[in-house]
Amino acid sequence: MERTLSIIKPDGVGRCLIGEVIKRLESSNIKIIAMKMLKMTKKQAQGFYTVHKERPFFDSLTDFMSSGPVVVMVLEAENVISKYRDLMGATNYKEAEKGTIRRNFATDIEKNVVHGSDSQESASFEINYFFNSFEIV
Ligand code: CDP
Ligand code: MG
Repeated sequence: MERTLSIIKPDGVGRCLIGEVIKRLESSNIKIIAMKMLKMTKKQAQGFYTVHKERPFFDSLTDFMSSGPVVVMVLEAENVISKYRDLMGATNYKEAEKGTIRRNFATDIEKNVVHGSDSQESASFEINYFFNSFEIV
Protein backbone atom coordinates (compact mmCIF):
# COMPACT_ATOMS: atom_id res chain seq x y z
CA MET A 1 0.00 0.00 0.00
CA GLU A 2 1.20 3.45 -0.93
CA ARG A 3 0.04 6.91 0.17
CA THR A 4 -0.13 10.24 -1.61
CA LEU A 5 -1.29 13.77 -0.89
CA SER A 6 -4.16 15.22 -2.89
CA ILE A 7 -5.28 18.84 -2.88
CA ILE A 8 -8.44 20.16 -4.45
CA LYS A 9 -7.13 23.62 -5.32
CA PRO A 10 -9.00 26.93 -4.75
CA ASP A 11 -10.43 26.86 -8.29
CA GLY A 12 -11.78 23.33 -7.75
CA VAL A 13 -13.38 24.23 -4.41
CA GLY A 14 -14.72 27.54 -5.79
CA ARG A 15 -16.28 25.81 -8.78
CA CYS A 16 -17.99 23.15 -6.63
CA LEU A 17 -15.85 20.26 -7.89
CA ILE A 18 -15.16 18.66 -4.48
CA GLY A 19 -17.80 15.98 -4.98
CA GLU A 20 -16.70 15.34 -8.56
CA VAL A 21 -13.08 14.72 -7.52
CA ILE A 22 -14.04 12.53 -4.56
CA LYS A 23 -16.43 10.51 -6.72
CA ARG A 24 -13.59 9.76 -9.14
CA LEU A 25 -11.28 8.71 -6.31
CA GLU A 26 -13.83 6.40 -4.72
CA SER A 27 -14.87 4.84 -7.99
CA SER A 28 -11.19 4.07 -8.70
CA ASN A 29 -10.91 2.18 -5.41
CA ILE A 30 -8.67 4.83 -3.90
CA LYS A 31 -9.25 5.13 -0.16
CA ILE A 32 -9.39 8.52 1.55
CA ILE A 33 -7.64 8.06 4.92
CA ALA A 34 -7.49 11.74 5.98
CA MET A 35 -9.29 14.87 4.81
CA LYS A 36 -9.75 18.52 5.81
CA MET A 37 -10.53 21.95 4.40
CA LEU A 38 -8.23 24.86 5.13
CA LYS A 39 -7.01 28.14 3.67
CA MET A 40 -3.25 28.51 3.34
CA THR A 41 -1.40 31.73 3.99
CA LYS A 42 1.03 32.89 1.31
CA LYS A 43 3.89 31.67 3.56
CA GLN A 44 2.32 28.23 3.97
CA ALA A 45 1.86 27.95 0.20
CA GLN A 46 5.50 28.96 -0.32
CA GLY A 47 6.58 26.28 2.17
CA PHE A 48 4.48 23.64 0.45
CA TYR A 49 5.85 24.47 -3.02
CA THR A 50 9.42 25.11 -1.88
CA VAL A 51 10.78 22.76 -4.60
CA HIS A 52 9.50 25.29 -7.15
CA LYS A 53 10.90 28.42 -5.46
CA GLU A 54 13.22 29.28 -8.36
CA ARG A 55 10.53 28.79 -11.02
CA PRO A 56 9.03 31.79 -12.82
CA PHE A 57 5.52 30.68 -11.86
CA PHE A 58 6.28 30.40 -8.10
CA ASP A 59 4.91 33.78 -7.02
CA SER A 60 1.71 33.49 -9.03
CA LEU A 61 1.21 29.85 -7.98
CA THR A 62 1.57 30.62 -4.27
CA ASP A 63 -0.80 33.63 -4.60
CA PHE A 64 -3.32 31.32 -6.25
CA MET A 65 -2.92 28.50 -3.72
CA SER A 66 -3.48 30.94 -0.83
CA SER A 67 -6.41 32.70 -2.51
CA GLY A 68 -9.17 30.51 -1.10
CA PRO A 69 -10.02 27.27 0.67
CA VAL A 70 -8.55 23.97 -0.43
CA VAL A 71 -9.41 20.37 0.46
CA VAL A 72 -6.38 18.30 1.41
CA MET A 73 -6.58 14.51 1.54
CA VAL A 74 -4.31 11.57 2.15
CA LEU A 75 -5.07 8.80 -0.33
CA GLU A 76 -4.15 5.16 -0.01
CA ALA A 77 -4.06 2.35 -2.59
CA GLU A 78 -1.57 0.21 -4.44
CA ASN A 79 0.60 2.45 -6.64
CA VAL A 80 -1.61 5.38 -5.69
CA ILE A 81 0.99 8.02 -6.58
CA SER A 82 0.93 7.18 -10.28
CA LYS A 83 -2.69 6.00 -10.20
CA TYR A 84 -3.87 9.38 -8.90
CA ARG A 85 -1.59 11.30 -11.29
CA ASP A 86 -3.22 9.32 -14.12
CA LEU A 87 -6.66 10.41 -12.88
CA MET A 88 -5.47 14.04 -12.67
CA GLY A 89 -3.87 14.23 -16.12
CA ALA A 90 -0.89 16.31 -17.26
CA THR A 91 -0.02 19.61 -15.59
CA ASN A 92 -1.03 21.45 -18.76
CA TYR A 93 -4.69 20.52 -19.25
CA LYS A 94 -4.30 20.98 -23.01
CA GLU A 95 -1.89 18.04 -23.03
CA ALA A 96 -3.87 15.94 -20.54
CA GLU A 97 -5.53 12.70 -21.65
CA LYS A 98 -9.24 12.84 -22.40
CA GLY A 99 -11.44 12.06 -19.41
CA THR A 100 -8.89 13.17 -16.80
CA ILE A 101 -9.80 15.68 -14.10
CA ARG A 102 -7.56 18.38 -15.53
CA ARG A 103 -8.63 17.83 -19.13
CA ASN A 104 -12.27 17.96 -18.09
CA PHE A 105 -12.14 20.87 -15.66
CA ALA A 106 -8.90 22.92 -15.72
CA THR A 107 -9.13 26.41 -17.15
CA ASP A 108 -5.45 27.35 -17.14
CA ILE A 109 -2.00 25.73 -16.68
CA GLU A 110 -2.02 27.16 -13.14
CA LYS A 111 -5.69 26.73 -12.29
CA ASN A 112 -5.72 23.01 -12.85
CA VAL A 113 -8.10 21.92 -10.06
CA VAL A 114 -5.97 19.30 -8.30
CA HIS A 115 -2.54 18.55 -6.89
CA GLY A 116 -0.98 15.12 -6.41
CA SER A 117 2.45 14.14 -5.06
CA ASP A 118 4.91 13.00 -7.72
CA SER A 119 7.13 10.55 -5.78
CA GLN A 120 7.27 8.66 -2.48
CA GLU A 121 9.70 11.26 -1.17
CA SER A 122 7.42 14.22 -2.01
CA ALA A 123 4.35 12.30 -0.75
CA SER A 124 5.98 11.85 2.62
CA PHE A 125 6.98 15.54 2.85
CA GLU A 126 3.56 16.73 1.66
CA ILE A 127 1.49 14.43 3.93
CA ASN A 128 3.51 15.54 6.96
CA TYR A 129 3.11 19.18 5.90
CA PHE A 130 -0.65 19.00 6.51
CA PHE A 131 -1.38 16.04 8.79
CA ASN A 132 -0.14 14.59 12.05
CA SER A 133 -0.35 10.86 12.77
CA PHE A 134 -3.62 11.21 14.76
CA GLU A 135 -5.40 12.70 11.74
CA ILE A 136 -4.66 9.76 9.44
CA VAL A 137 -7.22 7.05 10.09
O1 CDP B 1 1.03 19.82 -10.31
P1 CDP B 1 2.04 19.09 -11.15
O2 CDP B 1 2.93 18.16 -10.33
O3 CDP B 1 1.42 18.41 -12.33
O4 CDP B 1 2.99 20.21 -11.80
P2 CDP B 1 4.30 20.94 -11.23
O5 CDP B 1 5.29 21.02 -12.34
O6 CDP B 1 4.76 20.31 -9.95
O7 CDP B 1 3.79 22.42 -10.95
C1 CDP B 1 3.06 22.71 -9.79
C2 CDP B 1 1.89 23.60 -10.18
O8 CDP B 1 2.41 24.85 -10.65
C3 CDP B 1 1.04 23.11 -11.34
O9 CDP B 1 0.06 22.16 -10.95
C4 CDP B 1 0.40 24.40 -11.81
O10 CDP B 1 -0.68 24.79 -10.95
C5 CDP B 1 1.55 25.40 -11.64
N1 CDP B 1 2.32 25.62 -12.88
C6 CDP B 1 2.17 26.82 -13.57
O11 CDP B 1 1.40 27.69 -13.14
N2 CDP B 1 2.88 27.05 -14.72
C7 CDP B 1 3.73 26.13 -15.20
N3 CDP B 1 4.40 26.37 -16.32
C8 CDP B 1 3.89 24.91 -14.53
C9 CDP B 1 3.17 24.69 -13.36
MG1 MG C 1 4.32 18.63 -8.84
